[in-house]
Amino acid sequence: MTDSLVVRVRTGVPDAAVRALESAGLGVSLGPLEVDGCAALLSLLTDRIDAGFLANASHLKIVANLAVGTDNVDLAAARARGIAVSNTPDVLTDATADLAFGLLLATARRLGWADRYVRGGGFVGWRPDLGMGLDVTGRTLGIVGWGRIGRAVAERASGFRMEVIHTSRSGGVSLDELLERSDFVSLHVPLTPETRHLIGERELRRLQSHAVLVNTARGPIVDEAALVRALREGWLAGAGLDVFEHEPRLTTGLADLPQVVLAPHVGSATTHTRDRMAEVAAANVIAALRGERIPNRVA
Ligand code: NAP
Ligand code: GLV
Repeated sequence: MTDSLVVRVRTGVPDAAVRALESAGLGVSLGPLEVDGCAALLSLLTDRIDAGFLANASHLKIVANLAVGTDNVDLAAARARGIAVSNTPDVLTDATADLAFGLLLATARRLGWADRYVRGGGFVGWRPDLGMGLDVTGRTLGIVGWGRIGRAVAERASGFRMEVIHTSRSGGVSLDELLERSDFVSLHVPLTPETRHLIGERELRRLQSHAVLVNTARGPIVDEAALVRALREGWLAGAGLDVFEHEPRLTTGLADLPQVVLAPHVGSATTHTRDRMAEVAAANVIAALRGERIPNRVA
């Protein structure tokens, strides 16, 4: 590799990536989403890498996304231009599954409400009917998307003696059966044209009225306007959301619902996990610029 190879690293990417790239003899240029003459881009999931962007970046050898999801990248356009695309699977599976299960528990046991209640000075003494929630132990969990994170959530559910059912294109029960049988539904499919609004009014109406929906996958998988209506009208009991249809904007009405627990897309947000993601993204860049096999190539 020559010193002239420069990698654009987006502001906010953990230093672990910069250290790995520099150790491999690459130049690093930190900043916003511009690539100038750079040979590689270490991108964020909020970067829209569309056909127009790629058309002006044909000198790029690789777009290494700091995420497992690559719905922000036009993979077909990258393929057409011979630009590789990579992601960061596996290293974030446990952290994201932990967050999904945390949202499930927080929604079932109303921890968002409870926190606001105590801080607001509402807690003036124990009452037998205060803060009643839903049981988790022994209930049925429906997992939509039986991949790395979906299966890791199932592992956590086994500690709660839950019955786990799942659906994916290659197996499990039908989505309708899963929605009708589950007390908790957790989404773990990628965002694709097929999964956009996978959970809309029709699907929400199939849920049991005591059910809880958890979304740590991607916001547009759920029709959020339909979800707000469903929660207002009691088609389901609550929702735990780490991702939003119009992220970072919230659909009108969502934040007014006390039975919803909200998180700012922090599924993989632990220091250890983010460092590992940065190292994986850097390793993909280094392999691409050395002309070696790219470990996590998706296009
Ligand atoms: P994965 O291992 O690829 O699993 C995705 C699963 O979804 C696959 O097993 C696939 O199985 C299934 N699937 C794909 N399309 C489907 C469809 N139309 N209907 C039903 N199932 C479908 O991916 P992962 O590593 O678990 O990550 C899943 C997603 O989580 C990512 O794409 C990302 O969007 C999201 N994520 C979010 C956070 C966060 O911070 N909140 C963090 C990490 C990941 P089949 O091919 O058999 O259908
Ligand atoms: C986070 O949302 C990811 O896809 O890694």
